[in-house]
Amino acid sequence: MLFKKKEIHVDSRLSHIAFIMDGNGRWAKKRAMPRKFGHRQGAKSFERVVCECKRLGIKTVTVYAFSTENWSRPKDEVDSIIELLSSYIDRAQKEKDTRFVFLGDKSVLGDDLQKRMTSLEEETKDRPLTLNIAFNYGGRAEIVHACNELIGQGAKRSVSEKDISEHLYTSASPDPDLIVRTAGECRISNFLLWQSAYSEFYFTDVLWPDFDEKELHRAIESFYKRKRNFGGVT
Ligand code: FPP
Repeated sequence: MLFKKKEIHVDSRLSHIAFIMDGNGRWAKKRAMPRKFGHRQGAKSFERVVCECKRLGIKTVTVYAFSTENWSRPKDEVDSIIELLSSYIDRAQKEKDTRFVFLGDKSVLGDDLQKRMTSLEEETKDRPLTLNIAFNYGGRAEIVHACNELIGQGAKRSVSEKDISEHLYTSASPDPDLIVRTAGECRISNFLLWQSAYSEFYFTDVLWPDFDEKELHRAIESFYKRKRNFGGVT
């Protein structure tokens, strides 16, 4: 049976969704396959979910593709994730309406990959939708990086929240309205620590390679049932 997309209405209350794409390894293990097979399947889910977010009119999507802590994984697995990023950059050229932003420290990646990441960012910077790909990203490192930039610019007075926000990797994006984490884990794992101050969280047991349009709609429906008062009274 063909998957029939359920119509779901998204408005300006949900302009930014972020995803912690967890469970690729377990998905592969359940099938007695190597972990990199799970990441490959996870990359397919990533493209599907981003496509559906765009179709629904969500303006900013952020994905956690590789953390500063993920370097401790076996080299073969790390290489496979870098390879998925590299091949996605080739396909990304086709996305005419999307601005690509890489969150994290590119400097430890290969020269060629760094150049391709930077040129994709440059070439797409005037586009209306944003896809932030967190790669070699850590939330604490990002805040330290922002502080060091401010010091480097000669900040001699005390800094404001606005100053810090403007020096984060996400300076071009609003804070996430909704953060989705798959695979049954209920923690933030050093992701968007500053930006998630008032985000809604949605946790699901579904493993990331199984997270599809239907699961995305469930997360969005859950978001719209929440009452957000940002510390005030409504
Ligand atoms: C966490 O699951 C997932 C990752 C560390 C990698 C996420 C990468 C992708 C979804 C594909 C790459 C996409 C791009 C655009 C580069 P896990 O392996 O920790 O799962 P487990 O907890 O079940 O072991």
